[in-house]
Amino acid sequence: MKRIVIGLILGIFCFPVCGVTGQLEPMGDVPIPKGNLQTTEKVELGKKLFFDRRLSGDGTMSCATCHDPKQSYSDGLEISLNYPTTRNWRNSPTIINAAFQLYLFHDGRAASLEEQALFPMMSAFEMNQNLDFMEEEIRSVPEYVEEFTTVFGDPDITRDRIAMAIAAFERSLISGDALLDRLLRGDESALSPEARQGYEIFIGKGKCADCHYGSKLADDRFHALQVEENPEHLKDPRIAATRRFVAKVSHFENYRTLAEDPGRFLITKDAKDWKAFRTPSLREIAGTAPYMHNGIYATLAEVIEFFNAGGGKSNTALKPLQLTAAEKKQLEIFLEEGLTGATTTFSYPKIP
Ligand code: HEC
Ligand code: HEC
Repeated sequence: MKRIVIGLILGIFCFPVCGVTGQLEPMGDVPIPKGNLQTTEKVELGKKLFFDRRLSGDGTMSCATCHDPKQSYSDGLEISLNYPTTRNWRNSPTIINAAFQLYLFHDGRAASLEEQALFPMMSAFEMNQNLDFMEEEIRSVPEYVEEFTTVFGDPDITRDRIAMAIAAFERSLISGDALLDRLLRGDESALSPEARQGYEIFIGKGKCADCHYGSKLADDRFHALQVEENPEHLKDPRIAATRRFVAKVSHFENYRTLAEDPGRFLITKDAKDWKAFRTPSLREIAGTAPYMHNGIYATLAEVIEFFNAGGGKSNTALKPLQLTAAEKKQLEIFLEEGLTGATTTFSYPKIP
């Protein structure tokens, strides 16, 4: 009863973005903020900026370096790429369907794509760019001046408008029409028999839909599953520097001795959020290995093994599932076959 009431309340307030607990839904419409309406020209401009290496301090990296269309808009690495001489500390998530996220980043530190876009540009270990300088670099390109005028009505090029155009481009990266969508819209034969059994495990015995539900298969919450640390964190002093730097700018008191990723705690300073991470969307999951905030699992089979064992050491969020070998395989087949959207052709922009 309590669950139904909570479900109803959540359903009323955030439908259709979050969905009702435990219930899967087909892909819905992309939420577009009133202050940044989509136009074809804006999306095209954002696409150019997304691939433009002027956005990084040394001109070697664009957003697409770590969110590569050829890697399902991720970079295929455990721990993402980095600005030269530094190292990143987390796995690069796909940008596909990021438009549906209520919280961005593994710890949810950004609330909109507009806000998010400036973080990597400023980040010392990602693009390490000076935003005042970047504005002047973009302003010095006549084609950009022309395009900003078309899109925003005047030639002013600001960091905020750059972020708005990039966000508009990201909102065009949506993966609909996966086999799961067809099933949920009533096509009972959309999935292969094995994937269909995997789907039943996903919403039943596997309890996956307790957290992975709605149309994006995520609950907009943070859970401490106690995924083990990536050993690279212990070995590489450059990662230690990054970790301590992020903790320091997040006003984490003991940042100098911090030896692990505190997750959501960095943002809320609430003990219950210690090592909690956002439930990721599972759409496009077949193409975005390795998995988890630190890329510790190379395959979906390893992730399923983790959940089947009841999660990491002394976590309280999960319980062992006792899935048989056949059930684990069916679940894997469902994740692999059911959640990938229809392929669309992609053309690279010509950078002015
Ligand atoms: C050097 C690699 C790198 C570059 C360059 C980079 N990113 Fe990222 N991106 C990451 C990593 C790593 C994360 C996750 C960080 C975290 O959660 O703390 C991330 C997270 C994101 C997210 C959040 C996705 C989600 O599901 O929460 C978005 C959106 C995003 N990046 C967009 C961009 C844009 C736009 C640019 C260019 C302005 C960019 N990124 C440049 C590595 C990179
Ligand atoms: C209590 C909530 C919860 C339940 C139940 C749950 N998950 Fe998750 N899942 C999460 C969170 C949180 C993460 C991110 C953990 C991290 O990054 O450290 C995650 C991560 C994942 C990932 C990796 C995604 C990526 O992009 O890296 C997969 C795959 C996944 N879950 C599948 C499943 C399956 C299959 C089940 C059922 C057997 C399941 N989950 C049950 C909360 C949950």
